[in-house]
Amino acid sequence: MQQKIIILDFGSQTTQLIGRRLRELDTFCEILPYNKMPKDDPDVIGVILSGSPLSVYDDGAFQVDLSDIRGRYPILGICYGAQYMSHALGGKVEPAGSREYGRANLEYIDTTDPLFRGFEPGSQVWMSHGDTITAIPAGFHRIASTSTVHFAAYAADSEPIWGVQFHPEVFHSLQGTQLLRNFVVDICGGQQDWSPASFVETTVQQLKEQLGNDRVILGLSGGVDSSVAAVLLNRAIGRNLTCIFVDHGMLRKDEFRKVLNDYECLGLNVVGVDASTKFFADLQGVREPEAKRKIIGRDFVEVFNAEAKKITDAKWLAQGTIYPDRIESLNITGKTIKSHHNVGGLPEEMQLSLCEPLQWLFKDEVRRVGYELGMPEHLIKRHPFPGPGLAVRILGDITPEKVAVLQEADDIFIQGLWNWRCDDGERLYDKVWQAGAILLSDVRSVGVMGDERTYEHPVALRAVTSMDAMTADWAHLPYEFLAQVSNDIINKVKGVNRVCYDISSKPPATIEWE
Ligand code: XMP
Repeated sequence: MQQKIIILDFGSQTTQLIGRRLRELDTFCEILPYNKMPKDDPDVIGVILSGSPLSVYDDGAFQVDLSDIRGRYPILGICYGAQYMSHALGGKVEPAGSREYGRANLEYIDTTDPLFRGFEPGSQVWMSHGDTITAIPAGFHRIASTSTVHFAAYAADSEPIWGVQFHPEVFHSLQGTQLLRNFVVDICGGQQDWSPASFVETTVQQLKEQLGNDRVILGLSGGVDSSVAAVLLNRAIGRNLTCIFVDHGMLRKDEFRKVLNDYECLGLNVVGVDASTKFFADLQGVREPEAKRKIIGRDFVEVFNAEAKKITDAKWLAQGTIYPDRIESLNITGKTIKSHHNVGGLPEEMQLSLCEPLQWLFKDEVRRVGYELGMPEHLIKRHPFPGPGLAVRILGDITPEKVAVLQEADDIFIQGLWNWRCDDGERLYDKVWQAGAILLSDVRSVGVMGDERTYEHPVALRAVTSMDAMTADWAHLPYEFLAQVSNDIINKVKGVNRVCYDISSKPPATIEWE
């Protein structure tokens, strides 16, 4: 039995964060669309209703049949979840006048309530809501208030139902983790028994049983997810795993060679395929971002498949898919911003079954598993990198020469981040979610070097902080660091005479420029 908490998603940006917080408490949870509550799953020990960008009064506001869960599991409603329950059970929700956004303090807390066990008076919480609860249903009572929100939290008198208008999952709710622990452990009886060591042990055992003596193919990207999946599978089935690592020519400087070497040191059975000539030829003259992505995606499938077909008796395709890739998030707008998934299907005649050993893990859990497996730090801490590589960081058409220029600039930036120690001793690299350089190859500007006039290209630097790449803030890198990197790039990289720093957040910008 694997105890789990179900998080029903009403489309809030912070739903995944609730999941991560529970996992940090070593408790297993599943995030499901609000209308997909599993029927009769004996492993469920509690339910959380998430926030939402919608108001309970909006046309098409998401509704859930509470009778499916009420009386069967403890329930915690967060923001919209709390408003929805109050509204549905006979309380009152009204527009708050102005949107309540930001820090607030709980001026009244009922510390005898199990949800608030251990809370300090005045505890800081994070609010973000347009509606507010103005009356709670009969049979419920108030358990916390701020100076402006009377029903900041409520509980049912005689059944295990709680609602909080603030967001305990957000870092600025300083005792948010305590609240979630109170709910999950004390109220739901969660045993907190997830650990990387137990995950490795049970997964290796399951993989041995599932795969037996079968041959398995896995595409490596150099990223942490596929690498951890490969090492895990290698531990379970050894040489029956063949890894394929394709170089499309637009990886970082020396990345193909270095990463291939890392993989070999880890004892992986890995085939490196240098297909850069094909990719450069097919991309020649192509400038439009989506067209570039499509060509790279198509070529990648072709090259990968040609290699995979050589393993004629393969039965499985393994992938480093992780949980956030699979969460069926509620896309309120229904629009595609960028096509991300650039690895298409395998030839049907191969009839491979899918094996995804990391499918339940969040990124930070994958990293913890990586450490448990003894993988090197630089491989585990590696920033995310887009599948199409530097192709989406060269604005304009792609040539090997432009890639070489960008690789040099990018390498100076990334090495700089890795080598720069912050006051707390941590690497600057570890403080950012992801970073890279962008070559504005269609733009030229005038500069002066020595006595010579130059007329060359700018490079933009991009570094962001983020939890999950869905939203991101530009990283506030120290000026001294930026000055040093700018100097190094302009002095050392031929063809670049200007460096800019991108100070756009996502949204409205995206992390990649294309
Ligand atoms: P954006 O630019 O949409 O990127 O803010 C969000 C995250 O996705 C990465 N990214 C990709 N990853 N294939 C990938 O595997 C792709 O085609 C791709 N495009 C963007 C990006 O680096 C960031 O981490």
